[in-house]
Amino acid sequence: MNRLLNKVCMITGSGKGIGAATAAIFAREGAVVEIGDVDIDSAAKVQRDLENNGGKATANFVDVADQKSVNDWIAGIAGRHGRIDVLFNNAGISAVGRLDEVDEELWNRVFAVNVTGVYHVSKAVLPIMMKQRFGSVINMSSATAELGILRRAAYSATKGAVLAMTKSMQVDYAPYNIRVNALLPGTIYTPFVQDYLKKSYGDPTEALGELKKRQLASELGTPEDVAWAAVYLASDESKYMMGSGLVIDGGTISGKPF
Ligand SMILES: NC(=O)c1ccc[n+]([C@@H]2O[C@H](COP(=O)([O-])OP(=O)(O)OC[C@H]3O[C@@H](n4cnc5c(N)ncnc54)[C@H](O)[C@@H]3O)[C@@H](O)[C@H]2O)c1
Repeated sequence: MNRLLNKVCMITGSGKGIGAATAAIFAREGAVVEIGDVDIDSAAKVQRDLENNGGKATANFVDVADQKSVNDWIAGIAGRHGRIDVLFNNAGISAVGRLDEVDEELWNRVFAVNVTGVYHVSKAVLPIMMKQRFGSVINMSSATAELGILRRAAYSATKGAVLAMTKSMQVDYAPYNIRVNALLPGTIYTPFVQDYLKKSYGDPTEALGELKKRQLASELGTPEDVAWAAVYLASDESKYMMGSGLVIDGGTISGKPF
């Protein structure tokens, strides 16, 4: 309890899935949570749920692919709290297909959200953290940044970019007492994966079985499995973790046979 007491924590894409689970656990750990999502109805529901459980939260519309939308959101947060302790760049979208099947529109869209989105939000938040000389930035990468996976080249490219960006960002912001780390989840059962199963396979139940074969754990990950890793990176408990990728993948990477 209270591992994030009174920390101002903002989470992009926190209307659903991993972001929503993280918002709930951050709030339980005493954080003041800023929920941002393009889906404002989902974000507002997360806010209501958190408040009903005694948490402190505000929900706002934000499209991370749009710098103006991001700037408006950050100005609101800075006005409400005067500081930002934790930025969780979580928002992301999927792109399924072999490289030759992915049209340029989808390629550009997945980069706009997953990579340029991290740039837009970090660009607006880091000057605030540099001024306060404190902050923890958590970037959402993926296990796909480190291993080959069928029909996910565009998506994997975005997550590799996020991991590389994390390391360079860490070098630049370490002098300001800002830590920048990444999360690399395996397959987490969220609306994102449910949608992927529906679109990509004839029989989603059989597909679920196939996904489980990629890992050592008997079940897929839950949003909460990733949320607890985010709590660690957000809290001062991880003060010696800098520029790293934290893998939460049920043994997907380490369990690969040669
Ligand atoms: N689920 C997995 O297996 C898995 C594995 C590794 C990494 N990830 C990454 O974790 C993050 C969250 O994934 P999830 O599974 O919870 O997805 P999700 O689809 O369940 O939730 C993502 C949320 O982001 C929001 N969002 C999408 N585009 C946005 C934009 N432009 N601006 C603001 N919000 C936006 C959506 O409305 C949604 O609420 C993503 O970056 C994803 O790539 C997921």
